[in-house]
Amino acid sequence: MDPEKPDRNLAIELLRTTEAAAMAAARWQGRGDKVSGDQAAVDAMRTVLDTVDIDGTVIIGEGEKDEAPMLYNGERVGTGQQPEVDIAVDPVDGTRLLAEGRPGSLAVMAAAPAGSMFDPGPCVYMEKLVVGPEAVGAIDLDRPIDDNLRAIAEHTGRDLGELTVVMLDRERHDEAKRRVRATGCRLQLISDGDVAAGIVATWDERPQIDVLYGIGGTPEGVILACAVKALDGQMLARLWPRSDAERDAALAGGYDLEAILTQDDLVAADDCFISCTGITPGQLLRGVSFDRHGATTDTLVMRAKSGTVRSVRARHRLHKLRAYAAVTY
Ligand code: FBP
Repeated sequence: MDPEKPDRNLAIELLRTTEAAAMAAARWQGRGDKVSGDQAAVDAMRTVLDTVDIDGTVIIGEGEKDEAPMLYNGERVGTGQQPEVDIAVDPVDGTRLLAEGRPGSLAVMAAAPAGSMFDPGPCVYMEKLVVGPEAVGAIDLDRPIDDNLRAIAEHTGRDLGELTVVMLDRERHDEAKRRVRATGCRLQLISDGDVAAGIVATWDERPQIDVLYGIGGTPEGVILACAVKALDGQMLARLWPRSDAERDAALAGGYDLEAILTQDDLVAADDCFISCTGITPGQLLRGVSFDRHGATTDTLVMRAKSGTVRSVRARHRLHKLRAYAAVTY
């Protein structure tokens, strides 16, 4: 391929999949039904994904085939044409946020050349530490969070009291919360949605959060790694088994539970793409809004190879697009 010539940016095609998922899911905002909101997003994302010219394999999906009829791990998606890609999907990150009508849920998917995405196997959780470009090189997952915050403050020339850390509000983070508070840093606790929080922590155009720390989902971690690569930030992660059984299964599968994984271990290729569309409004994206003609969506698409970040606000005239309306209504 001629490096001087622009090539295809898959993210631009993938954005239609997260837009469709977000519009379908947004119908379920606040209706107290996590399952139906997620199902609507899965159905819409799957339908639109099949129009994209890729030979895709879902590496990070909705789970095993038996419990997930669509977008299951190992499922082939796309038209079957080149390129061959690994796909990671989270049709709704923040199913509870959506069901309760709270801010911050989004539809997200990522793609990378075949064989380049980390498959977390039996590991559901990983510890994550994520920062934006200014703080690259300052973090170390073998040190406690308070040491990291002091290192970030020194590296960036900022006061600790100016730094904001975001963390999932979970009991497993009680010690980390105490340590963050003792440094004088600002702490933002979120009930769900560490993909959006991690992107805000990395993206210098969203200065509200400087650091994401904590134990969250491995699927969300692999997806977030694509964004961290595109935004020139830094991510360190370590698998975190929930139980002895999960630890044994991971060790039997050859996983190193001590290893610190970087964004390049989680997604080995630079030509990776991510698209995310807001469902309910949040710090990163506006939510879906409906009017009598259709819907408006707010999407971010990124490509790590070029570092291009596009913000796409789209008006969908659903009465003109019957096929689209069928999957999103
Ligand atoms: P889902 O909406 O896909 O269930 O995930 C929400 C989420 O908050 C993720 O953003 C996060 O990584 C994970 O769940 C944390 O898991 P848990 O709720 O089990 O602590």
